[in-house]
Amino acid sequence: QQAQVHRIAVIPGDGIGLEVVPAGMEVLDAAASVDGTFQMRYETFPWSCRYYHETGRMAPPDFLEQLRGYDAIFLGAVGDPSVPDHVSLWGLLLPIRRTFRQYVNLRPARLLRGVPTPLAGRGPADIDFWVVRENNEGEYSNMGGRLYPGTPDEIVIQNSVFTRRGVERVMRYAFELARRHPKRRLTSATKSNGINHTMPFWDEVFRALSSEYPDVATDQYHIDALAARFVTHPQRFGVVVASNLFGDILTDLGAAIAGSIGIAPSANLNPERVYPSMFEPIHGSAPDIAGQGIANPIGQIWSGAMMLEHLGHPGAARRIMAAVEHTLGDRGVKTPDLGGKATTRQVTQTIIDALLEGE
Ligand code: NAI
Ligand code: MG
Repeated sequence: QQAQVHRIAVIPGDGIGLEVVPAGMEVLDAAASVDGTFQMRYETFPWSCRYYHETGRMAPPDFLEQLRGYDAIFLGAVGDPSVPDHVSLWGLLLPIRRTFRQYVNLRPARLLRGVPTPLAGRGPADIDFWVVRENNEGEYSNMGGRLYPGTPDEIVIQNSVFTRRGVERVMRYAFELARRHPKRRLTSATKSNGINHTMPFWDEVFRALSSEYPDVATDQYHIDALAARFVTHPQRFGVVVASNLFGDILTDLGAAIAGSIGIAPSANLNPERVYPSMFEPIHGSAPDIAGQGIANPIGQIWSGAMMLEHLGHPGAARRIMAAVEHTLGDRGVKTPDLGGKATTRQVTQTIIDALLEGE
């Protein structure tokens, strides 16, 4: 039987993106060879801050058309001190997330074996849930304006945009995910006491949908109390759904309780698969350690595992994560951000060896 070929657009980006993306590709190739039913075919694009200095743009004008036909996008990190962050973000990442309707930003808050958590007395069994962040609308709307700037009468308005379509689709995704999670629990992040138009609407849609999912237990917390519960009761959560702003905050908090920024992955999903989805670690280009060969490749590798899951290879994704936990937990091979002495290369090779040996 012929192996299924997945066409992947690879954007390493800047800084440590150039070091961890090749590591991620190697691990994906090893997982494919162990699995035998699929193969990755990569096309690499140089779009980045370097590209910006050469051309005056982060990517060519037709970059979205170029990406459109791929099965998925595998991205490192974009950003450099020589280019303002809003230029690099709005010039590449945000157009991809929005044009390709990647309205789900999915991040695990899962403590891996061998990784210390800042929460005292907690272990891997206590921290294992998903955060689903709305990724296309909400508080990050780019709508608003300024009147009478620089005067005592200055007025500044930024509008939030919540559409029925936008809220329903992200919640539906979260309910479906909760249905497959062992806890079968979905928690909604709200603030309907203080934000009295959009958040009561958010709650209303949540309640209406919950009647369609009687097998999923639901609860909701105001965002401030919910943030506290991530710290005091992480073991209570299965799946958490949140608006763009609340989700932005909760996903960073989730990554923090699960260890290190160098480990945490994310998926920007177009669940209907009309457009390619994008998989990237949550960390940035880390200019402070770039070029030293010591970046933690696990955020990128875990993002690759999420990509395989999306492409229909959950077994291969699980094998990658088992190899990662073996490397951290049993072998203790860790980069300096986790208190170890290993290089990017050594961590990557240990994971590949574990995969090939079926650890
Ligand atoms: P950062 O995530 O790049 O770095 C924060 C700290 O974490 C640094 O001390 C760094 O050395 C460390 N770190 C990050 N990833 C690591 C890894 N894999 N292994 C070991 N240590 C790691 O965030 P920062 O410094 O705020 O941003 C740097 C640049 O990256 C900026 O230009 C920013 O805009 C961009 N950025 C891009 C993102 C993306 O492409 N999605 C996301 C976040 C930031
Ligand atoms: Mg953030």
